[in-house]
Amino acid sequence: MKVAVVGATGMVGEVMLKVLEERNFPISELLLVASERSVGKKLSYKNTEYTVIGLDDAVTAQPDIAIFSAGGDTSLEWAPKFAEVGTTVIDNSSAWRMDPSKKLVVPEINAKELTVDDKIIANPNCSTIQMVLALDPLHKKYQMKRVVVSTYQSVSGTGVKAVQQMENEAAGIEGEMAYPYPINRNALPHCDVFLENGYTKEEMKLAREPQKILDDRTFSVTATAVRIPTAGGHSESVNVEFHNDFDLAEVRQLLSETPGIVVQDNPDTNTYPMPAFANGKDDVFVGRIRRDETQPNTLNMWIVADNLRKGAATNAVQIAEYLVENKLVSNTSEAVS
Ligand SMILES: NC(=O)c1ccc[n+]([C@@H]2O[C@H](COP(=O)([O-])OP(=O)(O)OC[C@H]3O[C@@H](n4cnc5c(N)ncnc54)[C@H](OP(=O)(O)O)[C@@H]3O)[C@@H](O)[C@H]2O)c1
Repeated sequence: MKVAVVGATGMVGEVMLKVLEERNFPISELLLVASERSVGKKLSYKNTEYTVIGLDDAVTAQPDIAIFSAGGDTSLEWAPKFAEVGTTVIDNSSAWRMDPSKKLVVPEINAKELTVDDKIIANPNCSTIQMVLALDPLHKKYQMKRVVVSTYQSVSGTGVKAVQQMENEAAGIEGEMAYPYPINRNALPHCDVFLENGYTKEEMKLAREPQKILDDRTFSVTATAVRIPTAGGHSESVNVEFHNDFDLAEVRQLLSETPGIVVQDNPDTNTYPMPAFANGKDDVFVGRIRRDETQPNTLNMWIVADNLRKGAATNAVQIAEYLVENKLVSNTSEAVS
């Protein structure tokens, strides 16, 4: 595959290159793409040095697959240009996620919906991916009614500038601010921009994207998204009300059997998921699994994942792997609709 990584110099882009290398994705030619600011910069992949190119040159090269992690505006403008030359775009931004003509994919859940005609495929929001992966098997078994989620999100979710802000503050250095307030020793109930309804855009992504991924509008999700001074991964306190009652041992069993999920749940040994341990791993970790004693058929759990891995790069590479394995990229000889 001729593969373009758009946003290669960014937080997600760096992990994307790591994940492509670790999983030995079949790359015949690699194009590393970023803004004009970075053109000419050198990046390395599998011990080979590559020169960063601009978007125009990347489109001209007509890659088979382009993985975008360069912000919504770049995706809105450039993903259609790649699609026009036959490239399949996998996009990490929020630009296409709720577009009814685009698929929103967590491979373990709905990759089967993909066809060779899907030229722009959306990767869900990082907080959504880890939550929905754990909710899917439980929804199938007990039928969700309502989800209440509060997030504790890593600064790495905002990008390079935010990690720098936190590190500067910790070291007492004055520098550029990615957030309107200090983040070190703080908690900001503010992820992405505020909307007219008083929620942030991140909170509305958590409310809407699970319905699209699970192709079911019969349950609802309400969210509060909070940024905290950690860099390792996102954590979520999730309260789920089901239509049907459940057995806690069975819930643990269902989650343990779900590909991509690791259950870490033993109060006797202080075993529970934490971002410091999820960091650098592809799995979604679930713990603190317990009954909500205030309401029937209701479960509490704590879900943690590395937002740059399963929340972004790993999920995107898994989509690319699915496309290649199922011959859904135009250059694969037997590509079928
Ligand atoms: N961080 C996460 O956990 C996460 C998770 C899921 C999805 N995402 C999404 O992934 C995208 C990137 O996030 P990030 O955290 O990696 O941000 P980041 O660290 O700020 O990196 C942004 C990347 O986009 C490139 N870029 C910016 N403007 C561009 C333009 N006009 N043309 C071409 N390239 C451009 C930058 O290139 P330069 O270096 O040249 O500026 C850089 O490579 C965003 O859409 C974000 O919403 C992030």
